[in-house]
Amino acid sequence: MATTFRTSLLGGPGEKLEVRDVQSTQPALGQILVRNHAVALQPLDAKMLVAGYGPAASLKHPAVLGTSGAGVVEAVGEGVAGIEVGDKVVFDTKAYVEPAENRLQGTWQQLVICDARTTAKIGDTAFDQAVLINFPLQTAVAALHVFLGMGVPGSGKEEEKVLIWGAGGAVGSYAVQYAKSVGYTVVVTASPRDIERQKRLGATAVVDYKSTDVIEQLRQQGPFKYLFTASGDASSQQALAALLPDGGKFASVLPAGTDLPANVEIVYAAFSQAAQKDEHSDWRAWWYEQYLPKVLANNLVETVKFTKVEGGLASLQQANQDVFDGKVRGKLVINPQE
Ligand SMILES: NC(=O)c1ccc[n+]([C@@H]2O[C@H](COP(=O)([O-])OP(=O)(O)OC[C@H]3O[C@@H](n4cnc5c(N)ncnc54)[C@H](OP(=O)(O)O)[C@@H]3O)[C@@H](O)[C@H]2O)c1
Repeated sequence: MATTFRTSLLGGPGEKLEVRDVQSTQPALGQILVRNHAVALQPLDAKMLVAGYGPAASLKHPAVLGTSGAGVVEAVGEGVAGIEVGDKVVFDTKAYVEPAENRLQGTWQQLVICDARTTAKIGDTAFDQAVLINFPLQTAVAALHVFLGMGVPGSGKEEEKVLIWGAGGAVGSYAVQYAKSVGYTVVVTASPRDIERQKRLGATAVVDYKSTDVIEQLRQQGPFKYLFTASGDASSQQALAALLPDGGKFASVLPAGTDLPANVEIVYAAFSQAAQKDEHSDWRAWWYEQYLPKVLANNLVETVKFTKVEGGLASLQQANQDVFDGKVRGKLVINPQE
């Protein structure tokens, strides 16, 4: 039976979001229908909405943005095992992977249909906490583990070092905690005001990324087995390349923004969407069935700061503008049911 619910539609590139009533459909084979209680705004969302960045270029309109959410399962399609009506879940959609095909499956709406395989049960974890963790932690772990080959918790060596550049943000903070949990010694760059928190998260040394001698300070801390820029800006990419005088590779959350030496490889991908791809099906199963539920159930990571924005879907436009304008520290979380 169809249910009326509110969605937030983007009518065309550069347009303002419009909140509208629409009718639900039923989940197909392998899918579930979730009543969505929390979304966390990511820089990618804001860049897509405000500046038509990345996957926004392939959208067909009207479209619903947002790729992660958390809520309660309302219906289960055929062929779904292990997830039942009433389960509390955190989930990802294909909204940013195949944006034209899945233009109405984003999470900026009250009811969302998603693939059961990209859904994790969250038990008693609050919806806010689940969405604060899933997308940026998944980005960090995909970059470090899937794309750089770091390994799983407990498999690393303390005498080997990892560098996380730009550890102040969500992806960076979670990357520090993951690398530490794997067992490596972690060196970070961050703002001086963040030193205490970075040490608590697992950093052994914290270098100010704005210091004029940042590269020299990092050279003294190295060498590094794995290098990751979680800010992804061009100067971070140049700095990481400078720390690889004999060549090598580093991962970056943003594509190459500068010329790099021929012997340095930049590893860039849509890390946050890696689990949507069948080539990563083993990783997907590990992430949603084992690792993420364990992290949530045992509070294995310290979450980033967040602000709850009142007003539900109607507040999305301004909140994303604030993220885009760099006015927000931490994440903004919105409840589409309000
Ligand atoms: N490729 C992917 O799959 C993927 C996935 C997720 C995110 N991203 C991208 O990754 C970036 C970070 O995302 P996020 O969610 O972590 O953002 P965030 O939580 O908003 O992090 C922003 C923080 O990063 C630090 N920062 C900003 N610019 C920096 C710079 N130039 N150098 C060092 N640190 C800097 C600042 O902290 P301090 O002032 O405390 O230093 C800032 O508050 C965004 O550009 C996002 O689009 C890519």
